[in-house]
Amino acid sequence: MRKPFVAGNWKMNKTVEQAALLVADLLPGLEAVKTVERVICPPPTSFMVVSRLLAASDVGLGAQNLFWEESGAYTGELSVLMVKEFCKFVIIGHSERRSLFGETDDTVNLKMKSALAHDLFPILCVGESLEENESGQTGTVVARQVKKALEGIEAGVAEKIVVAYEPVWAIGTGKAASPETANEISRDVVRKNLAECFGANIAAKIRILYGGSVNKQNAADFFSQSDIDGGLIGGASLKAEEFVGIVDAAA
Ligand code: PGA
Repeated sequence: MRKPFVAGNWKMNKTVEQAALLVADLLPGLEAVKTVERVICPPPTSFMVVSRLLAASDVGLGAQNLFWEESGAYTGELSVLMVKEFCKFVIIGHSERRSLFGETDDTVNLKMKSALAHDLFPILCVGESLEENESGQTGTVVARQVKKALEGIEAGVAEKIVVAYEPVWAIGTGKAASPETANEISRDVVRKNLAECFGANIAAKIRILYGGSVNKQNAADFFSQSDIDGGLIGGASLKAEEFVGIVDAAA
């Protein structure tokens, strides 16, 4: 069966010192739950210190983004090799990257291919905007995002992929999707499209997360759904007690 997966996306929060304090707070609770794959994604300035603090544990380190080239004249970018020096996981195509920093289905696809070619485990984010949701386009939009992101990716590496379904209107708003609706999209759109890309057997092994205003109160309702295998957690991943509570709910 699919091992539950919970990742904390710290976004643009925490200085190095604050990151070290948060990891120290998180570690005892995270260490206690071996049945869940636990990942934290701090900003790159903290990779060095956080990777040292995690070295003796099985808690994984992830990046929030990468650039697909290994090196070169790309001012301000973080290359796939630089991510690879510290991280096993990388979030790709987060809605904030798409809406604020011009990422498209095509650049998301380049990042996915680069991450997999360098043996990273990508966490691919998909999800519809409020407008798309209200005009009944959720299925079409999410299907397109999944298909485009995975174009040209071989089935042989597909099990490394984790997909996070994150309705944009639920991110950071305190208005989570209903667990039943999130499960429908995960099963009937995300997993169905994964099956069309890679075949049903491989699609059945790929973890699908829900993200968007998950907290320790509502987490269990999401994680008990048939096709939701964990969560991608933003705001609540910055508070040790909340994040550990969410990981506990996934166990
Ligand atoms: P949130 O963010 O948990 O703060 O809603 C989720 C995300 O952006 O991944």
